[in-house]
Amino acid sequence: MPSVSQPESSALPSPRGPGDRLRGAALDLADDAVRQGLKHPLIGPGRAVRRMFGADRLRDAVGGRTVVITGASSGIGEATANRFAHAGARVVLVARREEELARVVGGITETGGEATAYPCDLSDREAIEALTAKVLAEQGTVDILVNNAGRSIRRSIVDSLDRFHDFERTMALNYYGPVALSLGLLPAMIAQDRGQIINISTWATQLPSPQYVAYTASKAALDAFTRGTAAEMLGTGIALSSVHLPLVRTPMITPALEAYRGMPSLSAHEAAGLIAEAAVLRSSRVEPAIVTLGHIGDAFSSRGTDLVMGAMQKVGLGPVGRRH
Ligand SMILES: NC(=O)c1ccc[n+]([C@@H]2O[C@H](COP(=O)([O-])OP(=O)(O)OC[C@H]3O[C@@H](n4cnc5c(N)ncnc54)[C@H](OP(=O)(O)O)[C@@H]3O)[C@@H](O)[C@H]2O)c1
Repeated sequence: MPSVSQPESSALPSPRGPGDRLRGAALDLADDAVRQGLKHPLIGPGRAVRRMFGADRLRDAVGGRTVVITGASSGIGEATANRFAHAGARVVLVARREEELARVVGGITETGGEATAYPCDLSDREAIEALTAKVLAEQGTVDILVNNAGRSIRRSIVDSLDRFHDFERTMALNYYGPVALSLGLLPAMIAQDRGQIINISTWATQLPSPQYVAYTASKAALDAFTRGTAAEMLGTGIALSSVHLPLVRTPMITPALEAYRGMPSLSAHEAAGLIAEAAVLRSSRVEPAIVTLGHIGDAFSSRGTDLVMGAMQKVGLGPVGRRH
């Protein structure tokens, strides 16, 4: 995986007088608070109780279970595969690049974990059908599916007027792919009355995200699928979760790293921590505290949110993507 340098937290000149030092300290404090808010979901009473009884642990949730993780050849999927395998899961890794999948499988098996690679193009429905049949035949059952493979496109609507295919290709991988895989694996989960589907989404579906409408619209469709199905499955052994990730330092954002200088972000390992929270909590929405605060603010004033997000975009900040 290409290494991704961490965006600098501040591009301010070094403080000169006491006023500058105070301002620098205040900015550092705000930056720390934002980073903490990015790492942790809001702690609800249910989670506190689970903690008290020691059940709030990934090993309890995934140990000995078969977990399919898509987009596992890189970034967040790779970090999630490592984290889940370390907690005792048998991980089934899906992506297109066979050599990268073999590298991730090798790293896991060398340290005593169990991993198998299933190369597949997840924007191809027939390939997904073949993958589903092969995984079920060879693995017997799937306990958890993490739909993580995705692509992002950064392009304004004015530049997209003759680019309908941007909307088609984001939908193909970010929405139809996860839906097809979920529909293929749900019957086996329903038959055993146990299972979970964790869909990887973005904080940008919760707030307006100029320049990324094709990407965020496809992820918003996935959110709607997740939340609606989760509600339908209440009372059964099957849970669905949407994880609304913030900016994460992976190959996906490499082309736009310069634009994100100074913007707080997570490492892939920290993002995998939020996905682990979803496996442990099995709640329909897992997101950093700051994202939750964002949509509380949006509920009070959508106009205010539009203004803030529009202004952020003008200074080069926003959700992830590459221009291609
Ligand atoms: N990075 C962020 O800031 C951020 C923020 C919010 C949400 N997310 C979401 O997090 C997820 C993972 O992204 P990442 O940041 O880890 O990006 P990444 O490092 O670029 O990984 C993307 C993964 O998706 C796989 N993939 C792409 N096209 C595929 C296809 N047609 N069929 C099968 N697999 C395919 C890639 O593998 P191959 O190339 O080998 O196929 C790779 O493993 C995505 O859904 C993304 O939208 C990321």
